Formats: sequence, structure tokens, C-alpha cells
Amino acid sequence: MLINHMKIPWSIPNIEEEDKKAVKRVLDSEWYSMGKEVKNFEEKTASYLGINHAVGVNNGTSALDIALKCINLKRDDEVIIPALTYIATGNAVLYNCAKPVFTDIDDTLNIDTSLIEENITDKTKAIINIDLGGNVSNYDNLLKISKKYNVPLIVDGAQSFGSEYKGVKCCTHGLINTTSFHAAKIITTIEGGMVFTNDKELFLKAQAIRNQGESSKYIHGYLGNNYRMTDLIGAIGNSQISRFNNTLKQRRQMANYYKENLKNVEFPKELPDTENCYFFFLIIVKNRNKLNQHLNKEGIDTRITYPMPINEQKQFKKYSNKTFENAKKTSESIISIPIYHSISQKEQDYIVNAINKFGV
Ligand SMILES: Cc1ncc(COP(=O)(O)O)c(C=O)c1O
Repeated sequence: MLINHMKIPWSIPNIEEEDKKAVKRVLDSEWYSMGKEVKNFEEKTASYLGINHAVGVNNGTSALDIALKCINLKRDDEVIIPALTYIATGNAVLYNCAKPVFTDIDDTLNIDTSLIEENITDKTKAIINIDLGGNVSNYDNLLKISKKYNVPLIVDGAQSFGSEYKGVKCCTHGLINTTSFHAAKIITTIEGGMVFTNDKELFLKAQAIRNQGESSKYIHGYLGNNYRMTDLIGAIGNSQISRFNNTLKQRRQMANYYKENLKNVEFPKELPDTENCYFFFLIIVKNRNKLNQHLNKEGIDTRITYPMPINEQKQFKKYSNKTFENAKKTSESIISIPIYHSISQKEQDYIVNAINKFGV
């Protein structure tokens, strides 16, 4: 047992006094549902990303469902997804009765773009990409493939809001892009999400689908859902985005501190000319389960992101009996360690020591 045993959570939501004031401002205004706060948050977020349109929704899963409804997915259409991702990426494909087609990952822990073309058939209707933990994918390759086969790229940017590829913000490379503002995210509205596009028609369609498919008052041109964002949430978002550059800068400093001080662990490969937002700080180790138990025993909370390739999850098994070697190997060797706005250097040192002393 270490002296000064600490309890360090994996994440703490970044809620400041100004966020609380923003909520109070809305509660005092007597307009709580989707209104001017949401519109303002959409405009600020689109402007931050450098994209034309944004549609605020109740979470990142809804945003993905809207993206897939916007491209009219039909039963038995195929959608290419990475073999290692959060469950929501694949679930959105199933909600639309389409078939997920898994593709292994590379050293960046993102989809291996050299394996995508062999999975394209005349039923392929989309490629969904994620940037695991904020580590940026090869968007030049993804866009080349999307163009060559005329298959839209949908970016599930739930983990990469704030990341950049060659000076262009992530969550913008796809025909339609989505993100999540869940409690653990770098910018959080506790629950929330957004859809982004440069295409005006898709924007109007996404707006309608968010609100029961309503294209004009009580006229419902699409099958939609209630995916609306409230003004309470929009107000938190407005408050958060105004300090986001600073939050991101601090986060990158914390990540660099880990990189400089952790010994005998591997980090996911980062592509040149990319900027990671470090939603996750990921380490890759041989003795993963033992190290994880050790860290938890020392009071350090962790996450295994993710414990199995998505095709091995129960509801996805029937779509493939292949083993995706890199996704499998990664799911057995990866740990996500604490990184959040208020983690102190003393806490980071404690984590670094616990890992370095363990001798992985
Ligand atoms: C890759 C990915 N896609 C989608 C989602 C879903 O977002 P939400 O939890 O806001 O529904 C998440 C959530 O973390 C995610 O990591």
C-alpha cells in the first residue's frame, strides 16, 4: 500500500460556476424547450468547427441515427464500421435495419483504410468512421475511398471534438458528422449531441428528423423522433464552448505530461500533422489485466475502451464470424487512464509512479 493513498476518478465532468449561472438564466426566462439558446449553441459550434450547419440534439446516439436517416438507409444496406468502437456506432446501423460490415484497425487504433476497399459491395451505402479517444484517422484516405466508390463518409466524432487533421477540425470531414456532449466529454452538456454538415438540404432534413420529421407545423415529411435539445442544455453548451480552447490546451498539456513521464508503455500511433484532443489517454501494455487491477487497488479508476471488438458483442455476432486481429489484440492490451480538467500534477505523478513501479 502506498503512503498518501489517493482516490482518482477516471473522469470528472467539467462544470464551472458560469455553467450553473447559464442554467439559472434559462430557468428564470420561462422558455426552457428548444429555442434561442440551442440556436446560439449550434451557431457557435458550427463556427468553431468551420462548418456551415449544426443541429443540436439530445445525445450523440440520436445524432448518429439522424445522420443515417438522412441518407435513407434501407433494410440490408451495408455500412462499413471499424471493428473497435463504442457500441453506439454499430447500434445506429441496426436501428436503421442495415448491416454492419466490420473492418480491422491499424496502429492508430482507427479503421485501417487499406482494408476498406475489399469490403465495398454494391450494397455499401456508407462508411462510418470514429477517431478513437480523439486520435485522428487518415482522412485523406477515407475521403479518397468515399469519392472513388461514391459512398458517403459519416463521421462519428463523439470522441474527437477538438481534434484536427492537417489543420481541419475533426467532425467536419464527412458528408454528415456527429458528436456527443455526454458528461465525460471534453465539452459537456451532461447529455447532448450535435449533427454537422455543409449541405443545406441535409441540414433541413436533419432538423426535421430531430423534431418528429416535422417539415412545417404539424406536417411530417419524414419518419423522425423526439431528439430535441432543450434550452437548458443549449445554455450549458454556450457557456462551455466559450472556454473550450483553454480547456483543450490544458488537456493537451496533461497528455504530454503523461507521454514524457510514463515508461515501458506504448501509446497509440499518432499520424503526422494531426492534433489529438485526448478525450481518452490510452496506454497499451502487455500485462493489461494485472496492471488494471493494480491501478484500481491503488485508488486509480480506469476504463477498458473497449474490452472486445464490436463484432463480438452479442447483437453483432451474427453479422460476422471473422476475427479482427488488431482490434482483438488492442482490446486485450489497452487501458484508458484518468484525464480531466481538474486533475492535478500531484495526481498525475501518483498515476505515473503506480504504472512505472509496476514494471509492465
Ligand atoms: C464513438 C461514440 N459514438 C457514439 C457515442 C454516443 O454518444 P452519447 O452517449 O451521447 O449517445 C459515443 C459515446 O461516448 C461514442 O464514444
